[in-house]
Amino acid sequence: MHSIELSTLQRTESLGTVLGKIAEPGDIITLAGTLGAGKTALTQYIGRGLGIDPRIYITSPTFSLLHEYQGRIPLYHMDLYRLGSEEEIESLGFPEYFYGHGLTVIEWPERLGSLMPAERLHIELVISGEISRTAHLSAHGELWQKKVADIVSMV
Ligand SMILES: Nc1ncnc2c1ncn2[C@@H]1O[C@H](COP(=O)(O)OP(=O)(O)OP(=O)(O)O)[C@@H](O)[C@H]1O
Ligand SMILES: [Mg+2]
Repeated sequence: MHSIELSTLQRTESLGTVLGKIAEPGDIITLAGTLGAGKTALTQYIGRGLGIDPRIYITSPTFSLLHEYQGRIPLYHMDLYRLGSEEEIESLGFPEYFYGHGLTVIEWPERLGSLMPAERLHIELVISGEISRTAHLSAHGELWQKKVADIVSMV
C-alpha cells in the first residue's frame, strides 16, 4: 500500500490530474472513505485530467447513481451509496461498464460485494484535518501493481 498526504485541495487536484492523464480504457478506480472525505472532489479532478470540458461540472451521482462524461476516453462515475444489494447493482447494468471503453470511478464500492472487480486501483481517503486528507492507494491486479509507484511519484 502507498500513502500520499493531500495536505491541501491542490494536492488532491494533483493526484486526480495524474490519474486522469494515465487512465486507459477499461480502468477501474474504487474510492472509499467517509461522507465528505473527498471522493467526488477527487473524481472532479480525475475528469479534468481526462480532458473533460472544464465548463462541465462533475456532480455527485448520489441520486442518479451513474453519470457519464466525454473526455479523452469516457468517464463513468458511479455512487453506490443508496444501493442495497448486489442484485440491485446488477439489474441496473453497472457491471457492464467495467473493463469497457472508459474509466470507471466508483464511490462506495463496498456495496459491490461479490461484483467487486479484481483489477482495480483502490483509494481510501481519510480525513486528517479541515483541508487535509490522506490517500491510501492499493493496487489490485498486475496492471495496477506496475503503475502505482509511478502514480505516487508523479503526484
Ligand atoms: N485536501 C482535500 N481533498 C479533498 N477534499 C477536500 C480537501 N480539503 C477540503 N476538502 C473538501 O471536502 C469536501 C469533500 O466532499 P466530497 O463531496 O468530495 O466528499 P465525498 O467523499 O464524495 O462524500 P460523499 O460520501 O457524501 O459522496 C469538499 O467540500 C472539499 O472541498
Ligand atoms: Mg461523493
